[in-house]
Amino acid sequence: MARVIFLLVAVVSVFQALAAPLHSRAVTSPQCSQFNVYASAAIDEARLSLGSINTGNDIGNARNILQAQLSLLDANTGVTEIADSLLTSAPPAPANASATVVAGLQAALASLNQIFFLADNTTKAAVAAANASMITALDNAQQAVAANCQTTLN
Ligand SMILES: *[C@@H]1O[C@H](CO)[C@@H](O)[C@H](O)[C@H]1NC(C)=O
Ligand SMILES: *[C@@H]1O[C@H](CO)[C@@H](O)[C@H](O)[C@H]1NC(C)=O
Ligand SMILES: *[C@@H]1O[C@H](CO)[C@@H](O)[C@H](O)[C@H]1NC(C)=O
Repeated sequence: MARVIFLLVAVVSVFQALAAPLHSRAVTSPQCSQFNVYASAAIDEARLSLGSINTGNDIGNARNILQAQLSLLDANTGVTEIADSLLTSAPPAPANASATVVAGLQAALASLNQIFFLADNTTKAAVAAANASMITALDNAQQAVAANCQTTLN
């Protein structure tokens, strides 16, 4: 009997040891988490604004609009790495994840500022909305970098 109990304890210990890494998740400060949530939401708004533009109808601006969308995807990679590490049993995000967000947004804004308009139209309104959202996202990502926000295993 003692032998059986010993074996059971040993087996349970092994399972606990195997399970432990799966249960640990990355943590960060509430402030850092909030920077990422705000940046992520604003990136999503910018994505929706740019998505409303039909680049096939706007050949003159198509390259800059598409380039801005690609840079926005780069920024989104950073916020997603951070969010995933906090919400799922994923490893911590790369140390420079917030810097990736900043770099993507700066590139996206640079592309937006190359877009030209002859008149007020729906494209112009969509670009202005995307611009405002990206500036909000950039502000939050820059604050995260300034605060040296990291995700670490708890
Ligand atoms: C983040 O680090 C990776 C790997 O070291 C590097 O390839 C990437 O350029 C860095 N990104 C930024 C924005 O610094
Ligand atoms: C984006 O907003 C900034 C600050 O309000 C402004 O200077 C810039 O012209 C805007 N760019 C576009 C493309 O709307
Ligand atoms: C808005 O005007 C720009 C030129 O200023 C043009 O390229 C674009 O296609 C127009 N957008 C719409 C929806 O008409």
